[in-house]
Amino acid sequence: MLPKQSLIRILFLFVVLVSPLVSLTSQKAFSQASDVPTDAETITAGEKLFSENCKVCHTVETRLIGPALKGVYDRRELPWIYSFVKNSSKLIASGDEQAVAIFNEYNEIPMTAFDFFSDEEILSIMSYIKDQADNAPAPEVAAVPAAGETTEPEGLPSSYLNAIIAGAVVLLVALIIVLSMIVTRLSKYIRLRDDISEEDKEYVKQRNPMEMIRNKAFIGIVAAVFTAVLAKEGLDALYNIGVQQGYAPKQPIAYSHKVHAGDYQIDCNYCHTGVTKSKNANIPSPNICLNCHSSITEGSTTGTKEIDKIFAAVENNEPIEWVRVHNLPDLAYFNHAQHVAVGKLECQTCHGPIEEMEVVRQYSNLTMGWCIDCHRDTELNTKGNGYYDRLVELHEQESNKPFTVEDNGGLECAKCHY
Ligand code: HEC
Ligand code: HEC
Ligand code: HEC
Ligand code: HEC
Ligand code: HEC
Ligand code: HEC
Repeated sequence: MLPKQSLIRILFLFVVLVSPLVSLTSQKAFSQASDVPTDAETITAGEKLFSENCKVCHTVETRLIGPALKGVYDRRELPWIYSFVKNSSKLIASGDEQAVAIFNEYNEIPMTAFDFFSDEEILSIMSYIKDQADNAPAPEVAAVPAAGETTEPEGLPSSYLNAIIAGAVVLLVALIIVLSMIVTRLSKYIRLRDDISEEDKEYVKQRNPMEMIRNKAFIGIVAAVFTAVLAKEGLDALYNIGVQQGYAPKQPIAYSHKVHAGDYQIDCNYCHTGVTKSKNANIPSPNICLNCHSSITEGSTTGTKEIDKIFAAVENNEPIEWVRVHNLPDLAYFNHAQHVAVGKLECQTCHGPIEEMEVVRQYSNLTMGWCIDCHRDTELNTKGNGYYDRLVELHEQESNKPFTVEDNGGLECAKCHY
């Protein structure tokens, strides 16, 4: 049996040691991480809302235009988050200390108001953020080279190979010269000898390479090859008339995809709003620029000079006259939604690494051959689409190749021509 005193001591120790733990856990409850739902359905709903509304300015892990949102449910109370997201300006104007502090920290960039959101919707966004933060993906692996970019093949670098081939050619030419000199000498010597019959001399003469070059048949063959090469080059040049690959006109405002889509990772859809819904991708109106540039008035490389042009356009109610880069002739029909939303192709497959371009450049040649080649090679995305089940089944009975865009009629003239 323990003496009474020790019992009291143990009780005392228990209280001293455990009560902070208890208060810690209760604080944890106050920090609300546990109030944020973790079911898959809420997370998916939150992901959708986040990428449609918040992704242009926020990421989970790093600072973008606004702060990293990881752990925000720990540093703020949920009701605070609700009123900040719904209308941050109102909260800041009311003098809320936390709101004013973060507003100042972020150079007084106002956050868009989302007053149409319900508390549950904002909570679902928090679920998505918490899920992302808790299951942070492994650091990104080195960028995969974009389509069309050449990588050095393994083994000998190509510059070495070129040098070796050039050396071999020089050697062969030298060999031919030396050999033909020997042949000429020898046949001259034979001609001068008296002890050889005229018949043999004639035979030697015919086999002389210099004589062979004067031969009509030989000249005919060389001329034919030469004409063929010339015709091929000429036809290629004709095919390239009107092809504007590499076209990169100067734009009225030095707008940079590298800064916006690259450094700040603004989603392409934020500006090119039509790309998943319609034929055209749309070029953004100055109002879309103002969502951010009403507060970001200075660029780090061009100062206020270029951004001022946006304000001038809006004040004078004049459109910005962007120069069109990509332009198919009127006889062809191309639809973005079909390729991006249905076909699930990346912009970069056709437009190249836009997010690295200071000035947009036409990356692909946009010829009919380009469209057709891809339709021949690309497998149609039929997964989970009942419409295709029977077609794919029939196709598999007939061939063991994948079901491509071509098999679905993607080479029919009328699909692309009005
Ligand atoms: C136009 C850019 C922009 C968009 C869009 C945007 N935010 Fe913000 N957000 C900011 C900025 C900038 C701040 C920093 C505070 C300030 O300057 O007002 C911020 C701050 C916040 C904060 C406070 C962070 C903290 O640490 O206290 C939360 C929460 C937040 N945003 C959530 C959202 C959610 C959720 C969405 C989407 C529904 C969203 N934001 C969309 C720019 C944006
Ligand atoms: C902040 C707005 C914004 C974002 C984000 C943005 N763009 Fe653009 N984009 C523009 C503007 C403005 C133009 C017209 C000026 C120009 O050509 O540079 C343009 C032009 C283009 C063009 C050339 C259009 C033509 O004239 O043929 C392509 C292609 C393009 N963008 C693709 C993309 C892709 C792909 C992304 C995402 C990686 C993206 N853009 C992100 C604003 C944006
Ligand atoms: C979602 C926010 C956002 C939108 C929308 C946006 N920008 Fe920007 N823009 C930025 C940020 C961030 C910077 C970088 C500021 C800096 O350099 O510190 C910037 C910089 C710039 C610069 C200066 C680049 C430099 O380095 O000097 C120009 C010019 C510009 N934007 C034009 C535009 C135009 C034109 C549009 C509309 C087609 C547009 N922006 C839309 C966020 C935006
Ligand atoms: C299958 C190839 C392909 C893909 C994928 C693609 N584009 Fe295009 N894009 C084109 C072609 C072709 C044109 C020229 C269309 C024309 O002149 O009618 C074009 C034109 C444009 C234009 C100029 C305006 C217009 O609509 O004509 C913009 C902006 C653009 N694309 C942005 C994008 C963005 C952003 C994505 C990704 C979300 C994307 N594109 C994906 C082939 C593609
Ligand atoms: C990088 C590959 C790629 C390129 C380049 C490409 N397409 Fe496509 N195209 C696709 C894919 C994939 C589909 C199938 C989308 C789907 O699932 O319906 C498609 C479908 C189509 C369809 C619908 C066909 C049908 O049977 O319904 C048309 C029309 C079309 N493309 C026109 C064009 C034109 C015009 C060009 C050139 C300016 C072009 N495409 C360039 C990949 C490409
Ligand atoms: C996948 C889409 C696609 C299909 C299928 C297609 N075309 Fe085209 N075609 C184009 C595009 C895009 C151009 C414009 C190319 C350019 O500007 O260089 C074009 C250009 C042409 C031109 C040249 C017009 C000119 O002014 O130079 C002719 C002729 C033509 N197509 C005929 C056909 C015929 C015939 C078929 C059916 C056997 C066909 N096309 C199928 C996309 C297609």
